[in-house]
Amino acid sequence: MSLSEEKKSILITGGAGFIGSNFVHHWCKNYPDDQVVVLDALTYAGNRENLANIKDKKHFKFIQGDICDRPLIDKLLKEEKITTIAHFAAESHVDRSIIGPDAFIQTNVIGSFTLLESFRHYWNEQGKLKDYRFLHVSTDEVYGSLEADDPAFSETTPYAPNSPYSASKAGSDHLARAYFHTYNVPTIITNCSNNYGPYHFPEKLIPLMCINILLGKPLPVYGDGQNIRDWLYVGDHCSALETVINKGKPGETYNIGGNNEVKNIDLVTILCSLMDELAPDLPVKPSKELITFVKDRPGHDRRYAIDATKIKTELGWTPQETLEKGLRKTIEWYLNNQSWWQPLLSKDYQEYYQKVYG
Ligand code: NAD
Ligand code: TYD
Repeated sequence: MSLSEEKKSILITGGAGFIGSNFVHHWCKNYPDDQVVVLDALTYAGNRENLANIKDKKHFKFIQGDICDRPLIDKLLKEEKITTIAHFAAESHVDRSIIGPDAFIQTNVIGSFTLLESFRHYWNEQGKLKDYRFLHVSTDEVYGSLEADDPAFSETTPYAPNSPYSASKAGSDHLARAYFHTYNVPTIITNCSNNYGPYHFPEKLIPLMCINILLGKPLPVYGDGQNIRDWLYVGDHCSALETVINKGKPGETYNIGGNNEVKNIDLVTILCSLMDELAPDLPVKPSKELITFVKDRPGHDRRYAIDATKIKTELGWTPQETLEKGLRKTIEWYLNNQSWWQPLLSKDYQEYYQKVYG
């Protein structure tokens, strides 16, 4: 039987967040007989509503808890007979890491370490079974910043993280790598580009712009708007992670990209014209009149780009979504799910917004 055909008991940390919850939906749909356990601390970014339509599914369990809580994780791995960990839980937003890096070190470094250490002991007790997996989900931001003509990041690009967020993710990547090399723990690392799609918390560029357009609020573009990001539709990311869990080699790293490098200002302009087309009764139309250049983010990386040749040639995965189609689906989701995002614009969110945008 191949790895993908065996029944798994999969622990998904951060499964109530943006990518984690999309991955939970993806996994439950493709592997309805697998046991799926979500561990999530429900920080500001975690939301039970993201999992509302699967909460009563057979073989699904939600546990509210912290990845830094070693006794909880030791117990959970044993009781649920976990065979695979897909580790998403993290503090994930660069601007928040600039305002307050502490939680990033605690969750991203100490939390990932705690999970790895617990899994190492558990895996040893289970007889070091070779089909167990620890998938560590990371970011392309660990590679630092590219100039316009630099080649895209490959798996051998040296690490050069620039923000407290990317430095904390780099730290956890190094630990995941070391656990394979030192203890043979079957870890795999993935480094992906900027995701977008349903359930994206409205602090990140795309949902923030969509919601501000609906509210007629300014669209804050940092600096000169010429920074470049590669955009990966979250559904494509989930299928890449599924491929890596089933076919990836322990000890390896795989870069995952969307083949969609765009300047921020161009992306925001595309979003404005799609919103003008798709959203009824906008308070300001054309919505691009709302674009406002604001003070740059400190240490703002200029360009990220992914060379995803390895996952394509070794595992046969490529992204399926074009940027325009992906953005249309995303906008339609935000238009049809206003009751999902409206409660997120809470007092805490307004305080955060004030700190970043003044
Ligand atoms: P998110 O902020 O939307 O969700 C993070 C989730 O982790 C939340 O549900 C939160 O409650 C949970 N969490 C936070 N601290 C925790 C703790 N101590 N214990 C347990 N749960 C905790 O993040 P996301 O955008 O879904 O990102 C998921 C992963 O993917 C992260 O590891 C992130 O670094 C990585 N990543 C994200 C992107 C992106 O574009 N969003 C790109 C590359 C990599
Ligand atoms: P973001 O979604 O925060 O992702 P990351 O910083 O992890 O790449 O930002 C994407 C890009 O958009 C980044 O270059 C910063 C820029 N940006 C703005 O110009 N304005 C904003 O309000 C935000 C949130 C981001």
